[in-house]
Amino acid sequence: GGDDHDGSDLHGLRVVISAGGTREPLDPVRFLGNRSSGRQGVALAAKAAARGAQVHLVAANVDSSVLAAVPGNVQITSVETTAELQDAMLEASAASHVVVMAAAVADFRPARTRTEKTKKHADGSVESLELVQNPDILAGLVAGRREGQIIVGFAAETGDADGSVLDHGRAKARRKGADLLAVNAVGADVGFGDVPNEVHLLDASGSDLGAGGGSKDDVAHVVWDAVVRLLNSRSG
Ligand code: CTP
Ligand code: CA
Repeated sequence: GGDDHDGSDLHGLRVVISAGGTREPLDPVRFLGNRSSGRQGVALAAKAAARGAQVHLVAANVDSSVLAAVPGNVQITSVETTAELQDAMLEASAASHVVVMAAAVADFRPARTRTEKTKKHADGSVESLELVQNPDILAGLVAGRREGQIIVGFAAETGDADGSVLDHGRAKARRKGADLLAVNAVGADVGFGDVPNEVHLLDASGSDLGAGGGSKDDVAHVVWDAVVRLLNSRSG
C-alpha cells in the first residue's frame, strides 16, 4: 500500500461493512457479548468513503464516541444481535460490489431468552446455561455471492501447539471461501487496543497475498488496496 490514498480509486463502488460485536440477550438486562469496539470497521468505512466508495456501515453495538469518526456521507444501520446483523448484511449485500465482515460475531447464543429478569435461587443452586450455535453470516454471504462481488472476512488468531497464526489463518481461509481473509495475530502484545497490528491477506485457497498494517487506518488501506488489485486483475 502506498500513501496516495485520498481520491477516487473506489469511485463507483458500493460497499457494505459490518463493525462491532454482536450481543445475545439472556434476559431484559443481560447479554452475552464480546469486547470488539468497532474501530476497525469504522476505519474501513471512513477510508472507503475517502477513496470514493458509496459506503453502508452495519454497526453492531458500536459506541457513539466511536461512530463519531464515521463521515456524514456513510449510511449507518445499527443492530444488536447476530440475527439482526445477518438480516442487515444479506439485504445490503444484494446491492453491493464489496462486502466486508469486520464485526466480531457471537458464535453462540442462549437457547432461550427470558422475558423477566433472572433471579437467584434461595437454596444457592445455579442453573447451567444452554447455548446454540449462531449462523455463519460470512458463509451465507459467500454461498449467495453475486457475479463479480468481492467478499472480505477478518480473523484474529493465536498460534498454538496445532500451528502458527498463519497456519490457522490458511485453514480458515479455505474453510470460509471469502475472496480475501485479513488475518491478524492476537496475543500479549499484538491485536489489542490501539497497538500496532499486522495483517496478512489470504485468498480463498489460503495463499498469502501480502502483509501490511500498523494502525487500524493502515489496515483499512491495506484491505482496500487488495480489493482494488483484485478488481483490476479481474477486469484484465
Ligand atoms: N463470522 C460470521 N458469522 C459467524 C462467525 C464469524 O460472519 N457466526 C465472520 C466474522 O465476521 C469474520 C470471519 O467470519 O469475518 C471469521 O470469524 P472467526 O470468529 O475468526 O471465525 P469462526 O468461523 O467463528 O471460527 P472460530 O471457531 O475460530 O471462532
Ligand atoms: Ca468465531
